[in-house]
Amino acid sequence: MNILILGSGGREHALAWATAQNPKCDKLFVAPGNAGIATLATCVDLDVNSGEAVVAFARTEQIDFVIIGPEAPLAAGVSDALRAAGLLTFGPSQAAAQLEASKAFTKEICDASGAPTAAYAHFTEHAPARAYVEAQGAPIVIKADGLAAGKGVVVAMTLEEALAAVDDMFGGSLGAAGAEVVVEEFMEGEEASFFVLCDGEEALPLGTAQDHKRVGEGDTGPNTGGMGAYSPAPVMSDDIVAKTMDEIVRPTLREMARRGTPYQGVLFVGLMIKDGQPRLVEYNARFGDPECQVLMMRLGAQAFDHIQAAAESRLADARVHWADDHALTVVMAAKGYPAAYEKGTVIKGLEALPQSSTQMVFHAGTALKGDEITAVGGRVLAVTARAETLKDAHRLAYEMTRQITWEDGFYRSDIGWRALD
Ligand code: AMP
Ligand code: GLY
Repeated sequence: MNILILGSGGREHALAWATAQNPKCDKLFVAPGNAGIATLATCVDLDVNSGEAVVAFARTEQIDFVIIGPEAPLAAGVSDALRAAGLLTFGPSQAAAQLEASKAFTKEICDASGAPTAAYAHFTEHAPARAYVEAQGAPIVIKADGLAAGKGVVVAMTLEEALAAVDDMFGGSLGAAGAEVVVEEFMEGEEASFFVLCDGEEALPLGTAQDHKRVGEGDTGPNTGGMGAYSPAPVMSDDIVAKTMDEIVRPTLREMARRGTPYQGVLFVGLMIKDGQPRLVEYNARFGDPECQVLMMRLGAQAFDHIQAAAESRLADARVHWADDHALTVVMAAKGYPAAYEKGTVIKGLEALPQSSTQMVFHAGTALKGDEITAVGGRVLAVTARAETLKDAHRLAYEMTRQITWEDGFYRSDIGWRALD
């Protein structure tokens, strides 16, 4: 098959790496890709948020299958354009991707399907939202309804913080994304991520992970896209997975199908677990980044078979072949991230590192300048390893980070601490 993957992050490098290993893969294109992806696929400069541009490219290159990595093309309806053009596509329709693009929509689906989640109220106006927050008190969670690149959620420990967040969002700090606001009960517990492939009706659990969202050691400091992750998540016992499938995932899929907008793609289920009970924090309509890196490292080439089965509505017969293993990834980011950082700094030592089924450096924000690898993003590398134990995966990943010379980069030295303790 000729395959096109949309995106340019560590997630897409991991997807391309797993796909390239599958014997079904003939030509592999990634748009726009990055310097790491360029070593195993042809990178193409395409506007991935334009259905028209992606369809035109797919026709010219005789693409058989398109895998959509990030949320922006999903929210822009690129999957609809591709399917309308008769192209096999992995990724939910624009209507189904509302599970990520609108927090209020997800809450409505939870109400309709009985999925356990935080109590909430939805506001389109400033004054009633303020009054509600004052009546509820802190801690409380304020969420912009729309996509806000990770800046749309304020977990407020004090009433002042909560009111300031409401004022900011209705004041336009997040643009249209904050024109509507969801106010949620604060949930306590342990967070985990659960990934499920969906074909509109059937669902196939693909693995669990935990990530580290805060920039600093000990999970402190500002939120980021994720500074590291590991899989599996110890808190996701068989019992919790079964409860999540029965009480949250399947009811959601039934409700989406009932509305005429069946969900096809990967469902990223963000959970809060307390006293043996999972509750939904949020859905995303894509793989997590860097969670995808640890999932792909554990699944290898079979990941592509399951992704294809989801797109072809064949998940009823799909089976994941599990090894009893662990993977861990350490994100290397540009100094300053998640605030301002320098671009174009040089990274050395990558060529000497292993590239195997147990050790891989996935590129997230790199570009080739002459024959040097330069950093062009905030999160730049995802240094990933797999082993029989989490401890060994941790050791292997950190051994690799120490061989990378990048003065303008940093990483957290405590990825996996909760699970390793
Ligand atoms: P989200 O963008 O919805 O994933 O939210 C970002 C982070 O905010 C989550 O990963 C949680 O750590 C936290 N969060 C979101 N909603 C809640 C909630 N209702 N209670 C506690 N923490 C939450
Ligand atoms: N690592 C969290 C995310 O991809 O949203």
